[in-house]
Amino acid sequence: MKAITCIEDLRIMHKRRVPRMFYDYVDSGSWTESTYQANENDLQNLTFRQRVAIDVSMRNTAMPMLGQMLPMPVALAPTGLTGMQYADGEILAARAAADFGVPFTLSTMSICSIEDVAENTDKPFWFQLYVMRDRDFIRRLIERAKAANCSALMLTLDLQLMGQRHKDIKNGLSAPPKMTIGNILNMMTKPHWCMNMLGTKRRQFRNIVGHVKGIEDMASLAEWTAGQFDTSLNWEDVKDIRKQWDGPLILKGILDVEDAKIAANLGVDAIVVSNHGGRQLDGTCSAIRMLPHIVDAIGKQTEVWMDSGIRSGQDVLRAIAYGAQGTLIGRAFLYGLGALGQRGVTHALEIIHKELDATLGLCGQTNLADVDQSILLR
Ligand code: GLV
Repeated sequence: MKAITCIEDLRIMHKRRVPRMFYDYVDSGSWTESTYQANENDLQNLTFRQRVAIDVSMRNTAMPMLGQMLPMPVALAPTGLTGMQYADGEILAARAAADFGVPFTLSTMSICSIEDVAENTDKPFWFQLYVMRDRDFIRRLIERAKAANCSALMLTLDLQLMGQRHKDIKNGLSAPPKMTIGNILNMMTKPHWCMNMLGTKRRQFRNIVGHVKGIEDMASLAEWTAGQFDTSLNWEDVKDIRKQWDGPLILKGILDVEDAKIAANLGVDAIVVSNHGGRQLDGTCSAIRMLPHIVDAIGKQTEVWMDSGIRSGQDVLRAIAYGAQGTLIGRAFLYGLGALGQRGVTHALEIIHKELDATLGLCGQTNLADVDQSILLR
């Protein structure tokens, strides 16, 4: 096997090893994918200043998120269906994150349940919440996250209606996959994935199945989303959830200065500037473009993080230069997971860390926490 040297290598391997419907689920954006592309392009277009003859022998990429010092300000984002990329994927990703010393966020739409991850890891993780029509289910989910010692709650605000991804519909995305001829033929070309999947009992949305009346079997993600995600979600609900959760609360999916101000005034601990990786409102701007405006508006009141488009250590450095105090990666770690399981997630984190460290030095900087926009060409 050739050496894996970048996230793109992991993506190619992920695509080869994982059934098409699950790879496409990760790799797609909504509708025309213009926002998905803008996320990556706008990051690429931030140009570093190359500075030389500065002693960069002592470099430090450590920064805190929610007061916890991390080797780099990168957390694993909540991603749906992670346990379909690789058997027991959420447990494996949580273990890789814990070993590296960065936070892992479990999605409501995970395959492994809160309890599965808690029982099979030994460090606390974060839990991500979607607000659903069944408020009693939400209340119980929060209680389950407390019982599992989750150390932060991340409430996602930008997916009450689902952005359409053409491939998910065409592929008939579901968990477990429907046994159509096309799916069977495609899975036959992924023997490694099939072997692993047959070896686990975790093949459904285990936070949900068995915990909601009438949902014993899972239809497609989109169908369930359409029925359950509460489109009436508003700031009063956010206040209500704030009351139910004593620990750190993170609001994810904010892309507007006015919304950021409301969030900060609610006293949340962090917000994530995000367009859901270009998977929701197609035609809106990239997350990196909005980031400095939101940092200007509320950066002194609350931690401002960013996700959507980060595929490298260079991208992490760009986000930090633009004022982010933390970043989340989704696709970048999922490519590693789909490619090589836990080892692949570790690989992804190591690649990003190495790129971040070297790029910091090549910009003539030694301490990531001191970086600002002056490292970028105006
Ligand atoms: C869910 O979070 C999705 O983006 O599909």
